[in-house]
Amino acid sequence: MSRVALVTGGSRGIGAAISKALQAAGYSVAATYAGNDEKAAAFTAETGIKTYKWDVADYDACAAGIAQVEADIGPVEVLVNNAGITRDAPFHKMTPQQWSEVMSTNLSGVFNMSHPIWPGMRERKFGRIITISSINGQKGQFAQTNYAAAKAGDIGFTKALAQEGARAGITVNVICPGYINTEMMSTIPEKVMNDVILPQIPVGRLGEPEEIARTVVFLASDDAGFITGSTISANGGQYMA
Ligand SMILES: NC(=O)c1ccc[n+]([C@@H]2O[C@H](COP(=O)([O-])OP(=O)(O)OC[C@H]3O[C@@H](n4cnc5c(N)ncnc54)[C@H](OP(=O)(O)O)[C@@H]3O)[C@@H](O)[C@H]2O)c1
Repeated sequence: MSRVALVTGGSRGIGAAISKALQAAGYSVAATYAGNDEKAAAFTAETGIKTYKWDVADYDACAAGIAQVEADIGPVEVLVNNAGITRDAPFHKMTPQQWSEVMSTNLSGVFNMSHPIWPGMRERKFGRIITISSINGQKGQFAQTNYAAAKAGDIGFTKALAQEGARAGITVNVICPGYINTEMMSTIPEKVMNDVILPQIPVGRLGEPEEIARTVVFLASDDAGFITGSTISANGGQYMA
């Protein structure tokens, strides 16, 4: 029986690459998304991976959604907390709504997904929780007090939960990507990319979603059983934490 992996925000961007890589590695994969039905349907048509719509910021929706996934394909053994949003603004212009949307999705969403899955992982004495944070949670970023705080929170969450899971065979790790070549990046003007962004990255290029996905596949594997509570930077040398 193949292991079951659940990837939040797994229908596009980095999450889609993670879902596909886990599928290629032999996992039964379920992917969640927030509202973009068209992308999710196209992703399912392309990959055969079933998609589920719910808001990770809503605890009850997460609990119900996870129960549905487990009824459909079995107990979740690998959880990838990838869903995330930005609502950028300099602090003096940031609204309480921008703050709370990012905290609810990027930090509380990680609690809301991990908490209902945790008891089953403890009972089965196996689990993998892998959260996608960001380089900006490590170093901060102008106009991202909300995002940097939430992503730094994901790192603290990981370090604490890893201690609780260690004796139960559950590893908990966090990956901090730098600039990754997703749709979001393709909207950046070429001049800004060449003159501002690329010079900050010692390897001289953006990361590819598949490079993050391969890191997830490794952390999910039995081979990574001694790695827990770790913060893995994947940023081309841009920030060496
Ligand atoms: N791209 C980068 O360069 C970069 C760098 C560092 C870290 N990251 C982090 O990597 C992760 C993925 O980023 P990405 O650029 O691939 O994002 P993306 O292309 O914008 O995709 C985000 C995914 O998350 C889902 N999602 C968003 N809010 C959600 C919610 N409240 N509930 C459930 N699902 C939700 C989206 O669903 P819909 O399709 O329905 O909207 C989508 O599937 C994020 O956590 C991001 O912060 C990205």
